[in-house]
Formats: sequence, C-alpha cells, structure tokens
Amino acid sequence: MERIKVESVSYSYQNKYQTVEAVRDVTCSFETGRLYVITGESGSGKSTFLSLLAGLDCPGSGRILVDGDDISHTDRDAYRREKVAVIYQAFHLFPLLTALENVMYPLEIRGMPGKEARRQAEACLEEAGVSRKLFGQYPKMMSGGEQQRTAVARAIASGGKILLADEPTGSLDSENEEKIVDLLLSLAHERDYTVIMVTHNREIAERADVRLVMKDGRMTMEQ
Ligand SMILES: Nc1ncnc2c1ncn2[C@@H]1O[C@H](COP(=O)(O)OP(=O)(O)O)[C@@H](O)[C@H]1O
Ligand SMILES: [Mg+2]
Repeated sequence: MERIKVESVSYSYQNKYQTVEAVRDVTCSFETGRLYVITGESGSGKSTFLSLLAGLDCPGSGRILVDGDDISHTDRDAYRREKVAVIYQAFHLFPLLTALENVMYPLEIRGMPGKEARRQAEACLEEAGVSRKLFGQYPKMMSGGEQQRTAVARAIASGGKILLADEPTGSLDSENEEKIVDLLLSLAHERDYTVIMVTHNREIAERADVRLVMKDGRMTMEQ
C-alpha cells in the first residue's frame, strides 16, 4: 500500500551569498512494509530529503502526500508527533534520562499515565533487543549498538509507522550494524513500517527492498 507520495519536490537553501539547490524535482513513492535505502555522495541532498519527509522543512515547490494528505497543509506538529520518527547517526538520546526514561518520553508527552508508559516502553525496548539490565542505564554507559537500539525503541514508542533513518549505522561496528539493519527490516516486513534509510554501506544497501540513489539533488531508482 502506498504510504508516501513525493511529487516534483524541490528545496533550496538560501543565504546572502548563494542558493544551493539541495533537492531537485524529485518524484517517487514509498509503500508500507518495505525497507528503502538511499545512497549517494556526500552533499547530494539525502539528509535534506529526509528532513522534508520528516516535516522539519517544507518543499520550495512540489508536494509530499502522506496517506493522501499534503503534509505542508495538514497540522505538521501532529504529523511529526504521530506518523513519523527519525533516527540519527549520533543516536540523539537524552543524556540525563535512562534508557527506559528515553523510551517513556514520547509516551508521556502524549499524556499516557506513568505506569502504562513504563509498561509500553519496556515492551518497545524488548522488541528492539535491548536487554533488561540496561533499562536503568544512562546513554553514556551504553555501547553504540545499545544506544541505537534504544533510539529505535523510542521511535517505535512514538507510534509513527514511518521510520526515517539518516546513516543509523554510521557510528557502529559491522556486527552492530547488521543487527540494526535486521531490526529495521523486521519492522518493515513484520510490522508494516515504511522504513527509509540513508547509508553509505553497499552491503546494507543490498539488503533493502528498494534502492534509490541521489545525485546532485536528483533521485533515481537503482535497477
Ligand atoms: N543548512 C544549510 N544551509 C545551506 N546549505 C546547506 C545546508 N544544509 C545542507 N546544505 C547543502 O545542501 C546540499 C545537500 O546537503 P545534504 O542534504 O546534507 O546532503 P547529504 O545528506 O547527501 O550529504 C549540500 O550542498 C549542502 O552543502
Ligand atoms: Mg547527510
């Protein structure tokens, strides 16, 4: 089922001195239940494209439809809260919260009572393969792989079934890299997430259901 439709989307950064056309006339679509990988050289527009899908920026022209609604015209805060979650290379966990508290956070800001939030956060951590003994740990005490699994658990807890991952394995060793990709693949194939991941790693790209390549702001599908 088609989840996201990107129609002739362009985006430029402008400052006093120059205009950078980061995304140029991109048209593509993304279905539920699939893992998409975007590759491309540094500076080709991958992160900008993900931030448009995340609703963090609005296209300069063109439109992005999610479940048929143009995300620039719907409530963008609600879109970001309810439909989409982003995972970054540097994990971006809250340093002063434990693993469990990090995952409870999106549940509590939705108004879920503490006890229920705790129960659901524990289930999300378990689903993401974080062992129980780490639930009370602070991020800096955890390995990169454990932190990234916690970040995935927090994304699951957020409830959005569109998962955007910007080089999520960029700071991990190959064993942890593989595990994170296994996890993202299982979310797509078994839980019907739409997962869109940027990576530099060829082997990881091979495991995706669909491969896209960005070059100078333009997107092509790899055959
Ligand atoms: N905040 C910004 N201001 C101006 N230019 C930017 C900004 N962010 C990115 N760019 C430029 O936009 C282009 C695409 O960048 P980006 O989306 O980060 O590419 P990638 O993620 O593929 O490395 C690059 O030329 C980059 O220099
Ligand atoms: Mg980038």
